[in-house]
Amino acid sequence: MSVSFAKLSFLVLALMFLVVDRPSSCLELIDDKFVYRNFQDHKRDTFLHNRFKKGFAWGVATSAYQIEGGWNEDGKGPSIWDTCSHQGGHVFMNHTGDVACDSYHKIAEDVAILKDLGVTYYRFSVSWSRLLPDGTLNHPVNKHGLAYYHKLIDALINANIEPVVTLFHFDLPQALQDIGGFENRQTVQHFLYFADFCFREFGQKVKYWVTINEPYVYVLFGHEYGLIAPNLKLPSQRSFNIAHNLILAHARAWKRYHERYGQEQQGLVGMAFSTIWAEPMTQKAADLEAANLFMQMTVGWFARPHYHSDYPDEMKEYIEKHTDIKLPEFSPQEKEQILTRSCDFYGLNHYMTVMVKERGNEMPGQMFDPETVRSEIDRNWIVKEGYYTIVPWGIRKALNWIHKHFHGPAIIVTENGMPHVGYDVNLEDQDRVEYMTAYINEVMKAQLLDGVDVRGYFAWSLMDNFEWTHGYMMRFGLHYVNFTDPARPRMARASAKAYTEIIQDNGFPSKVREDL
Ligand code: NOJ
Repeated sequence: MSVSFAKLSFLVLALMFLVVDRPSSCLELIDDKFVYRNFQDHKRDTFLHNRFKKGFAWGVATSAYQIEGGWNEDGKGPSIWDTCSHQGGHVFMNHTGDVACDSYHKIAEDVAILKDLGVTYYRFSVSWSRLLPDGTLNHPVNKHGLAYYHKLIDALINANIEPVVTLFHFDLPQALQDIGGFENRQTVQHFLYFADFCFREFGQKVKYWVTINEPYVYVLFGHEYGLIAPNLKLPSQRSFNIAHNLILAHARAWKRYHERYGQEQQGLVGMAFSTIWAEPMTQKAADLEAANLFMQMTVGWFARPHYHSDYPDEMKEYIEKHTDIKLPEFSPQEKEQILTRSCDFYGLNHYMTVMVKERGNEMPGQMFDPETVRSEIDRNWIVKEGYYTIVPWGIRKALNWIHKHFHGPAIIVTENGMPHVGYDVNLEDQDRVEYMTAYINEVMKAQLLDGVDVRGYFAWSLMDNFEWTHGYMMRFGLHYVNFTDPARPRMARASAKAYTEIIQDNGFPSKVREDL
């Protein structure tokens, strides 16, 4: 991948979409039915009135560095995000997560808004270096960190909310980065000890585990493009090595859980994969192939080993033919002992659809593209803040792709949401109401019409928070947070109320929603 050029063209694209005048609303009423504006296929895009199957899991998601604050309190060790944000120059206006939403001191407030929402699941992450300050068990565990998570988990359970715990959401302990991060196999071992520690400590109360969040983004954006922590610009070969170790780290943790804890604790261990949908530009074989390659090299790269014990063939062939990278190999023993069906659920994080075609002599499209592929954003689509597209049917197609390629696995939508940019209070986020309505409706179609085993939907995010390089400027919250007020008050947006209604209805029973 010619990265710097790809990066540049990606940024140009992002800017272009910021200035193009696009409609901001996505649903409209046609013949008494809601369809998505700007979409041509009315059969595909017509709103479905029905309910999800019984037991569907409704939740919201956050992550430790993005909400907790208390960055150096009570013995917490630094993470790579503390380093990155304190260094300056990496984050919008040099914002930091030092205080963030102050969730480290606001368990009661967070649980109260979760209760008001009516969710039955809350996905949050534990900060590895809050529990193990240098990332290892070579030094004493931080008792205060442990007490914080026990208190949070207990408060959730008392409120009838299932905790869904992510072990690693981008915030690697700095001490482990100092030994080379996930490029060093020792970090894989420390991750296993950390995971084992969490299973042992919290496993009586926690039944859902996400080992690693978005390894694709963490590896490429953090280690090759230098955009997020640890802000490295390593050659591609090293990204593939790091990715390989992350895949093994998950698989080892999964195996450990089922060997030592599963029988007694009866929980599930999955991973959250960034899942862009690549729509072929035309039905020509070359474009179908390009779209498939895109999916294999973004999703298949990290997920396929857990379902089919190896990397995708398309990816192996592509790498051999078009690059001088040596794709690491899984040993026969790894394939047999730790990779077979090593994911109890596929965690689907979804924010984007792209149109994909075979690339001739044209420039590369976006930074996700392999050399032979060009991805674009359709000019009719609504695009939020550069590259978050609003293409509701994209999530249904992504769900179907996962269903087809990985033996119909259990899937949980572990993240889906839409950003606003700015500091305004803006509690009337009608566009987000429409976004959620449309996307959740597509998830329901996948479940009811297509037979995809999708078991839950978690909105990103419970509240505005530290959006990585965009700092507090980019807001995904169902609750607005005032970051200039030391009390960090949370205020429900219209989308929070709309989500509560959808949850209460378990979908969209036949009444037409008057409020849209
Ligand atoms: C996915 C990441 O997991 C999350 O941390 C981030 O805030 C959202 N995408 C929105 O960009």
